[in-house]
Amino acid sequence: MTVTVILGTQWGDEGKGKVVDYYAKNADYVVRFQGGNNAGHTIKVGEEVYKLHITPSGVIQGKTGVIGNGVVVDLEVLLKEIDMLRKREKEPKLLISDRANVIMPYHKLLDGAEEKYLKDKKIGTTKRGIGPCYSDKVARRGIRIIDLLNEEILRKKLEIILPIKQKLLEIYNIKGNLDINEITKTYVEYGEKIKPFVTNVSVELNDAIKKGKNILLEGAQGTMLDVDMGTYPYTTSSHTIAGGAGIGSGIGPKQINEIIGVVKAYTTRVGEGPLPTELKDEIGEHLQKKGGEIGTTTGRARRCGWLDLVVVKHACIVSGITKLAVTKLDVLDGLKTLKVCTAYKCDDKTYTTFPAQTEMLDNCNPVFAELDGWDNIDKDAKTFEDLPENAKKYLQFIEKETGVKITLVSIGAERDKTITI
Ligand code: GDP
Ligand code: IMO
Ligand code: MG
Repeated sequence: MTVTVILGTQWGDEGKGKVVDYYAKNADYVVRFQGGNNAGHTIKVGEEVYKLHITPSGVIQGKTGVIGNGVVVDLEVLLKEIDMLRKREKEPKLLISDRANVIMPYHKLLDGAEEKYLKDKKIGTTKRGIGPCYSDKVARRGIRIIDLLNEEILRKKLEIILPIKQKLLEIYNIKGNLDINEITKTYVEYGEKIKPFVTNVSVELNDAIKKGKNILLEGAQGTMLDVDMGTYPYTTSSHTIAGGAGIGSGIGPKQINEIIGVVKAYTTRVGEGPLPTELKDEIGEHLQKKGGEIGTTTGRARRCGWLDLVVVKHACIVSGITKLAVTKLDVLDGLKTLKVCTAYKCDDKTYTTFPAQTEMLDNCNPVFAELDGWDNIDKDAKTFEDLPENAKKYLQFIEKETGVKITLVSIGAERDKTITI
């Protein structure tokens, strides 16, 4: 029996979907524990490409996908994704927590409105209603999955919530009539459709652990988007770090055996906020193009930069990462010199740990180590030994700086372009 968390160490899009899919072959359950359909996880199997936003990646390997209590669920998106998978003959085996919060129409409207109000100070959210939904959850005025299974309870809650939301929309000058009958009807119908999947996920998973089953906990976003540990306020609204895995699935922290941090071999970020190693030159453009760095969810170009080990070390600390999985190493093929950030210089001070004050990062310069590049990784490489010498040195540098062993190296988007160590 193993319970393994797989999470992003940077600003998301590290290749978590690919890594989860790879490990899912030995798993019984794959659990999303936070975030919502702001995530976009890509899985490539041969010529087939799956882009999942809310369904756990393990369903592609035919494993039970679990949506934990810590997730915020847009049912319109979930139902469409289930349909898409059915059409592609990947009938998903799903369990949905009765306690997960539901993204409601007003959350999406308010996400857009708040971003518009912030103008050039905007977060650059995915406008999927994530922040407003988590805000309501913490303010104790959320709608949970269980509420959709009882029309009377749902209506009573909406009677209190909708007038407040309507006023907020007016303040933001957003058109939209929040009709209680329409919303109740729609969400009761959604409830009917998902009813067969709804359960107490915590009980299911703890029973599975007792029976010796293998569980993968699939993170969304990345450490630097964690609401406490990331580049606040340019973060998402959930706990993307390992601590969020137990909370968001109802598993005790002592049940978790392994925490794998996914590290993209360089750095990317979508949306606003600091990115200390950002490359606004032709190398940045090269990484963007070669890496296909276009957001899966919003189609925005991802900002690119050199690998930042201050960030990865921060991720290792705050999540107690036990192993690393390095992805997209092939994207660095052909670059003569590779830079890796090991510290930041801000005024006269050098930082080797990630500073709390996000504003300060604008005036920080990365301190780089320079490593020699390599020509091309053999597309059929199967072992660490098959990698070019300088690629091995690059990986060893990451291990030395972080103090964490690399267990997987990804050299292509396809499932079989994976080396385990
Ligand atoms: P996630 O959000 O962390 O699951 O990552 P995304 O799926 O949003 O973005 C990662 C992108 O890189 C996807 O298009 C993957 O198919 C692709 N990818 C994953 N691993 C590799 C790799 O090792 N090499 C290359 N070239 N592409 C990869
Ligand atoms: P995956 O799981 C990359 C970013 C948004 C924005 C910030 C807040 O695919 O790695 P939100 O809509 O969550 O309130 O937006 O977080 N963001 C992501 N960036 N990958 C993601 O998910 C992301 N999910 C949210 O771009 O900057
Ligand atoms: Mg993604």
